[in-house]
Amino acid sequence: MDSDGNSPADEIMCVCSGTTRGQIYDLFMQGKDVEAISRHSGALSGCGGCEWDIEQFVKALAVLPKT
Ligand code: FES
Repeated sequence: MDSDGNSPADEIMCVCSGTTRGQIYDLFMQGKDVEAISRHSGALSGCGGCEWDIEQFVKALAVLPKT
C-alpha cells in the first residue's frame, strides 16, 4: 500500500486503457501472454508507453514459483 492508501494492484500500468497491475496479474494467472493480455485489457493498444513496464512485470511473474 502506498502513501495514498492505494494497493499496488490498483496501480494503473497502462494510462491509455486504464489497465491496472492487478488486472494484468489476473490475466497472466489465467495463462495469457503479453499479446493476449493486451487483447483482453486494451493495454499496449494506445501510445505504447507502458510496453516496457508491462513486459518486465509479466517476465517477473513468469519466474515466480507456481503455487
Ligand atoms: S500507456 Fe499503455 S498504450 Fe499508452
